[in-house]
Amino acid sequence: MNREQWKAVDHFITSKLVPGDAALEAALHDSEAAGLPSINVTPNQGKLLMLLAQMLGAKKILEIGTLGGYSTIWLACGLVEGGKLITLEAAEKHAQVAQKNIARAGLAEKMEVRLGPAIESLPKLAEQRLGPFDLIFIDADKASTADYVDWAIRLSRRGSVIVVDNVVRQGAVADATNKNEDVLGVRRFYDMLAKDTRLSATAIQTVGSKGYDGLAIAVIN
Ligand code: SAH
Ligand code: DHB
Ligand code: MG
Repeated sequence: MNREQWKAVDHFITSKLVPGDAALEAALHDSEAAGLPSINVTPNQGKLLMLLAQMLGAKKILEIGTLGGYSTIWLACGLVEGGKLITLEAAEKHAQVAQKNIARAGLAEKMEVRLGPAIESLPKLAEQRLGPFDLIFIDADKASTADYVDWAIRLSRRGSVIVVDNVVRQGAVADATNKNEDVLGVRRFYDMLAKDTRLSATAIQTVGSKGYDGLAIAVIN
């Protein structure tokens, strides 16, 4: 088993189940042209986010880590009629590229890109009583993941779902000697989930065109 095979299968799944969409493809194209890193979710992962939003009948979605808005557009496509999405991004250039991509997708009315470090934006969302969010997707700096989950819980209701990207990191997460700050952050996140009775969670390893990683999913009790 190797990465070429993972890629081929992702391509196969996507060709069968994830029809091409002009706005999503343009979002990736312009993100790359602007020099953004291609660390967006894959098309089949993006569709999973949309399906989760649909399953929840999501009216309010929060995303932490916008990049060029690729996952953002997928999530917004799963909103119910009249639903709203807020996405948090620290890098001005990323937020600008995302804003354009979102507008081209015809989703500007439903979305707000909030510029600034998420740890500063999250308390403001709470102060402004913008929650509870039905679905929260965490995909920003991995070192802060546990802090974001804590805020996500405060901005939730019973039954809200939290999805966290990149929780396996090529398997490094299971290596207790790893000193990488992202890996330490993700391990701190698992420690938190293990103890926190406010939610119930699991995590799944994934392979695909973006390599070996995984995602966690949690429901608020
Ligand atoms: N969700 C996107 C990918 C996000 S990549 C997708 O799948 O399409 C991670 C993003 O988090 C980057 O754009 C990065 O600038 C942003 N980020 C990093 N640290 C942050 C922070 N402290 N607050 C908010 N955003 C942050
Ligand atoms: C990285 C970040 C991501 O959100 C991702 O999905 C893959 C890689 C990174 O920072 O390397
Ligand atoms: Mg990610």
